[in-house]
Amino acid sequence: MYTFDRAAYEERMKWFVHDRFGMFIHWGLYAIPARGEWVRSQEHMPEEQYRPFFEEFDPVDFDPKAWAKLAKQAGMKYAVLTSKHHDGFCLFDSALTDWKVTNTPFGRDIVREFLDAFRAEGLKVGLYYSLLDWHHPDYPAFGDQNHPERDNPAFRDKPHDFARYLDYLHGQVRELCTNYGKLDIMWFDFSYGDLTGEAWRASELVRMVRSLQPGIILDNRLEVSGSGFGSIATDAPLEYSGDFVSPEQIIPQEGFRDSKGRNICWEACITMNDNWGYTALDKNFKPAATIIRKLVECVSKGGNLLLNVGPDARGNIPPESVEILRTIGAWMHRNGASVYGCGGAGMPKPENGRITRCGKTLYYHILENSIGGIPLQGVAADEIESIRLVADGSEVMQLKGWIWDNYPDVVFVQASRTARLPDETDTVIAVTLK
Ligand code: GLC
Repeated sequence: MYTFDRAAYEERMKWFVHDRFGMFIHWGLYAIPARGEWVRSQEHMPEEQYRPFFEEFDPVDFDPKAWAKLAKQAGMKYAVLTSKHHDGFCLFDSALTDWKVTNTPFGRDIVREFLDAFRAEGLKVGLYYSLLDWHHPDYPAFGDQNHPERDNPAFRDKPHDFARYLDYLHGQVRELCTNYGKLDIMWFDFSYGDLTGEAWRASELVRMVRSLQPGIILDNRLEVSGSGFGSIATDAPLEYSGDFVSPEQIIPQEGFRDSKGRNICWEACITMNDNWGYTALDKNFKPAATIIRKLVECVSKGGNLLLNVGPDARGNIPPESVEILRTIGAWMHRNGASVYGCGGAGMPKPENGRITRCGKTLYYHILENSIGGIPLQGVAADEIESIRLVADGSEVMQLKGWIWDNYPDVVFVQASRTARLPDETDTVIAVTLK
């Protein structure tokens, strides 16, 4: 009988809760058609139309060390790479299939090079593994919700042995957990319809993963998809609940707590434009300022942000993404103390921004300037040890006098002598309590 060990859970989640900010990398054959990682499903593309991309795959510019440096400079503390996406293509040298990168013109084990490069930069490393597999002959096709051949009558009576597919799935996960050193995250994706939980032989899978990688943390998608939270968000998580809720392309209205008010870890996974996999025509990139504010929003609600990049067919992260990451990195270099090791403040959201907290320090993220000084709600003047502008460490002075005497319960400070904030994206003021 499985019993959730909350103490062990909180211990293994410590680094995740501290680090807050990670890179998601969606890469594979779908970078060549460049219409997103679901191109086979969305276009009902038969295998024979997709196979030429396998014969062609040769990302000559792939430089995992450059990717790792970019992630580190952006202030990211961990990274998760797709080892296999729904198309079944393996970015690692699996002994269980020929549908793998080492059989393409490129010929190199991308997973191994990714892990080596990101570990060398001091980042934690994770692998995304798709439970779906549109290449494997034993994965259900006709009538499936997502399979490229779901409506193809030729597949109606095609024999397939799902148990054999599960042996393949478990065998590949065993390969990843055995042959590539210490993994910090395994990011399964995703459950749907009847394919959830034990339909994947999930308890057996989780036991194997945790036995081979004792400290590893798992997402919740052996149970759910981006829709639903799973039993991790309850008082009695199942053995395959995973360790964090994984809201996708959305930041929840508030964090997640169980019925006893205990924090439940969560990580919002977000694309920079509108697609996970490289999509040449998708230029709808979010401004860096928006992403910075969303990272702060996640932390203020006790969560993490996993920000995606989709490298192109040559192995380059799109220049728009590089530029955004560099801008984020500059802000993180000045203000990272208000993110790393921080969480919610347990106070109402102020009208001019958000608050994150680490121990006795409250970080007021001022997103909108005020007239008459910046109000710092929720703190009393006599409990304040110091007030500092995080970006440069300078003292921030309280404002006193007839204008502010009317509001004795609010601390007003001056962070700028102009109508503009020192940092229009997010000016962070650290208030350390006595
Ligand atoms: C969804 C998409 C998948 C993507 C994942 C990222 O499950 O189907 O393509 O990898 O979200 O969270």
